[in-house]
Amino acid sequence: MKYVTLNNGVKMPQLGFGVYQIPDLAESEKIVSEALKAGYRLIDTASTYLNEEAVGRAIRKSKIPRAEIFVTTKVWIEDIGYEATKKAFQTSLDKLGLDYIDLFLIHVPFGDYYGSWRAMEELYKAGKIRAIGVSNFSEDRLVDLILNNEIKPAINQIEIHPFRQQRRALEVNKEYGVQVEGWAPFAEGNCNIFHNEILMPIAEKHQKTVAQVILRWQIQQEIVVIPKSADVQRMQENFDVFDFELSEEDMTQISYLETGFKIINHLTVDIAKSFNEMKILRA
Ligand SMILES: NC(=O)c1ccc[n+]([C@@H]2O[C@H](COP(=O)([O-])OP(=O)(O)OC[C@H]3O[C@@H](n4cnc5c(N)ncnc54)[C@H](OP(=O)(O)O)[C@@H]3O)[C@@H](O)[C@H]2O)c1
Repeated sequence: MKYVTLNNGVKMPQLGFGVYQIPDLAESEKIVSEALKAGYRLIDTASTYLNEEAVGRAIRKSKIPRAEIFVTTKVWIEDIGYEATKKAFQTSLDKLGLDYIDLFLIHVPFGDYYGSWRAMEELYKAGKIRAIGVSNFSEDRLVDLILNNEIKPAINQIEIHPFRQQRRALEVNKEYGVQVEGWAPFAEGNCNIFHNEILMPIAEKHQKTVAQVILRWQIQQEIVVIPKSADVQRMQENFDVFDFELSEEDMTQISYLETGFKIINHLTVDIAKSFNEMKILRA
């Protein structure tokens, strides 16, 4: 496993496992257990994924020392603001059954996220969180947050895949010392990604799969990647990406795949409205 060092010195695995769209608790516990067996040590969940309890149970049952597993969760808009975020953090901690979280993120940049950030700075200073960060922050929002607060985000988790390469975001995050983590590395299977005419020959040349090429392409750009798979064989396949290297020519070929396709465009009125209306279906 390769690790990245965040701007506060904390080490984070560069390849992790995402658990979005697995809300069934028994199923997600089983999947996370399999992921830990496959070697993943970074698990990415969120209060909105409704599976924090299952992630916590799988971690405890694995008997892997807590310090070896890097757990990320996120605060949703419903819990945005200083007081609400402190409460939501404790709820996530309780659901996970942990006594600290490795990385806590503001899920989307809507609502009083400055209030949330102040709460997160305090929780970080109190040792309850090892690193704090943001997700889906456009470059302008990221820089504004940095300029108006004491602690810089350690991470910005944003949508990155071959069709949305986020070159400008990568530059700006790097300039400000913020580690980029890419979500939906496979574009959630959209645009026939696994049968792409540029990716397939590159995969064949390296005797790897298209999925492995996509993950490698992100790893070589120093991005933290968190693919999701509910299938044991595919999660093992996605973990096996450290024994080959894409050439400069491969990287250039992949750069031509940018189309501007977005799973979510956070800069639209529709998303601002629908996300503000979306509530966590807490039991
Ligand atoms: N911060 C945010 O706003 C945000 C938003 C979305 C996602 N995320 C995070 O990013 C993680 C990953 O993104 P995602 O889950 O949306 O999508 P993704 O990882 O791009 O794609 C998952 C899809 O790819 C399939 N797949 C996985 N490995 C494969 C392989 N080797 N070959 C063929 N198909 C494969 C999966 O099917 P199977 O399961 O059947 O293998 C699933 O349908 C999430 O789980 C979540 O942790 C964050």
